[in-house]
Amino acid sequence: MGSHEVLTGSVSYTLETPDMDFWPIEVSIARAQNSDEDIEVVWADGCTSIYYPFWLREQCSCTDCHSETTREALIDITKIPLEIQAESITLDEQGYVNICWSDGGHKSRYHPGWLRANSYDDWAQKERVSELKTWDNSFSVLEFDGVRLLECDDHLYEWLTALDSSGLTLLKNVPTTKGSIRKIAERIGIIRQSNFGTLFDVVSKPDADSNAYLSIGLPLHMDLPSRETPPGLQFLHCIVNEAKGGASQFVDGFHLAKIIKQEAPEIFKIVTTVDYSFQNRSVDCDFRASGPLIRLDKYGNPIESRINTFIAAPIINLPHDMLKKAIAAKHYLLQTMNEPRFKVEFKMQPGDMVAFDNRRILHGRSEFYPNTGSRFLEGCYLDRDDLGSALRMLERKKRRIKSGY
Ligand code: OGA
Ligand code: ZN
Ligand code: ZN
Repeated sequence: MGSHEVLTGSVSYTLETPDMDFWPIEVSIARAQNSDEDIEVVWADGCTSIYYPFWLREQCSCTDCHSETTREALIDITKIPLEIQAESITLDEQGYVNICWSDGGHKSRYHPGWLRANSYDDWAQKERVSELKTWDNSFSVLEFDGVRLLECDDHLYEWLTALDSSGLTLLKNVPTTKGSIRKIAERIGIIRQSNFGTLFDVVSKPDADSNAYLSIGLPLHMDLPSRETPPGLQFLHCIVNEAKGGASQFVDGFHLAKIIKQEAPEIFKIVTTVDYSFQNRSVDCDFRASGPLIRLDKYGNPIESRINTFIAAPIINLPHDMLKKAIAAKHYLLQTMNEPRFKVEFKMQPGDMVAFDNRRILHGRSEFYPNTGSRFLEGCYLDRDDLGSALRMLERKKRRIKSGY
């Protein structure tokens, strides 16, 4: 254990950075100096990073500034002058940047791997942007092993990376016992409960509180658009699928968004800006929420779809003319979504588990006939945040090993 490392049980972290992460030094620092009012770091590969001094001061990793145990900030940044400057900047023998600050001589030491990982110049920001790949009916869903990923972090990482990038994955070999889905979900994070329970049984039943629990076909949809933030992930584990029918269908909602933008820009404008309402009603609950059918981020990229025809609530917040346009736009979107060019379809076998981004991928099923055999799926939800955290933790572990800790 290095002198700057803390070990709590089997978990370790370093005090060399203000986070709990590990940043292998892949490129060393050639020099660091004041440049105008900023601090300039020139890297051995020729790149240059500019840091605003206040920004660096706030990130000081010393245990006065960031708690030794939580690594959360202790400093009151309102006590630091905005115009703070570095009085001296030196590189030590390990290649770390040492700064003595103009206000009261506080000393900070910056890890080169951390500085590189957090640089924010144009070139660095560009390196972090990855283009989202969307898919159509030619997509082959990537498959992973539901037993292997329980034991092997590398396999888990491969699965989660695929889930994050394509939004839909298939696990094979998940034991066909009730509750197996929980073990898989807990490899990622905490299951998100809903009025349908922690784990829900998708089975045709007489007291159904959702169309999903009838045997009718389910049109392409997402679950719980009736929530302000619908669940980010959905898992469906097939335990029995003997009945005739009951095939699963999937469409990439972000691909649909891309195509509608190209083919019908005026429809795109409406479905991305008008709020549509949804209502999940039952004898003992009444959830309502609204949002655009396709939500865009500030760069115009789709980040969420909110599509479900069987729990749509009436639009009651628009002037009549706009209401007609909103309905026509939804009609167009739904017709387009149902064109064969978008849809991937297969019948799940016992032991299969689909995992998909519920706010990106639309899912459906064909009608099944309970008198021809039984059909039983078990499902659960998690949030996108859990996937993000799990991926970052697996990446942190890889970086820790690479850093030699
Ligand atoms: C659901 C659902 C699909 C299926 O439960 O929300 O969409 O194949 N089920 O039964
Ligand atoms: Zn400090
Ligand atoms: Zn569903």
